[in-house]
Amino acid sequence: MSETFLDVADLDVFYGSSQILFGVGFTVGRGETTALLGRNGAGKSTTFKALAGIAPPKRGSITLAGATLEGRKPYRIARAGLGYVPEDRQVFPEHSIEDNLLIGAKKGPNGEDYWTLARIYEVLPRLHDLRHRMAGRLSGGEQQMLTIARTLMGNPSVLMLDEPSEGLAPIIVAQIGDLIRRLRHLGVTVLLAEQNMHFCLGIATHAVVIDKGTIVHRGPIAELRDNEEIRKRYLAV
Ligand SMILES: Nc1ncnc2c1ncn2[C@@H]1O[C@H](COP(=O)(O)OP(=O)(O)OP(=O)(O)O)[C@@H](O)[C@H]1O
Ligand SMILES: [Mg+2]
Repeated sequence: MSETFLDVADLDVFYGSSQILFGVGFTVGRGETTALLGRNGAGKSTTFKALAGIAPPKRGSITLAGATLEGRKPYRIARAGLGYVPEDRQVFPEHSIEDNLLIGAKKGPNGEDYWTLARIYEVLPRLHDLRHRMAGRLSGGEQQMLTIARTLMGNPSVLMLDEPSEGLAPIIVAQIGDLIRRLRHLGVTVLLAEQNMHFCLGIATHAVVIDKGTIVHRGPIAELRDNEEIRKRYLAV
């Protein structure tokens, strides 16, 4: 396993008085694609919101490349290198694809400037073809591609995708999977929340399984693929 890049330890998160996460902890190595898997309501999105500073944890620590993230405001966490694509893939509907991408443009926490318009268009030629189209007129799949691309334009150290395949047609899901695989080959570190384990096979290198706000399994993705008991007990497969 490569060096620990993102280190999450002992997170407790509450909504009001109800506790949602119980001591959540896992690590992500540089360049890995880690899938956070769990059923409906297991706590995947809450974990992402905790990392992004939107649902600040009451206890626990979050470290990215040695920098402490917990307790910081969301915009500072983003600036420290955590790129977050939420479930509801927000685009600026009245702006063109190109403007949406430019809105996301900034250097990474250490001045990284790998991701530019030209790079994005190279990796996603479809966005180049449609670059003058209003984002609000794109299909769901195209909007998902655009939000991922816009987040990449911020040159994040870790790209966090909350259920990128949700609600999309199988052919688009395959395209998103292909994009995530290509990002791994480009060295991007990805953390992916998913209910769909089959989508993650062949995409993720590692799996973390969450159930009722508790981490119940961690390991290489092949280990989960071969472990029927865990799959049956904690996933809808
Ligand atoms: N704003 C909120 N206030 C109170 N409870 C919430 C809130 N958001 C989520 N919850 C509860 O927290 C638990 C975890 O929800 P979360 O959205 O993190 O699950 P998830 O794993 O992302 O599920 P899904 O696969 O449906 O997206 C659920 O029981 C949910 O009902
Ligand atoms: Mg969710």
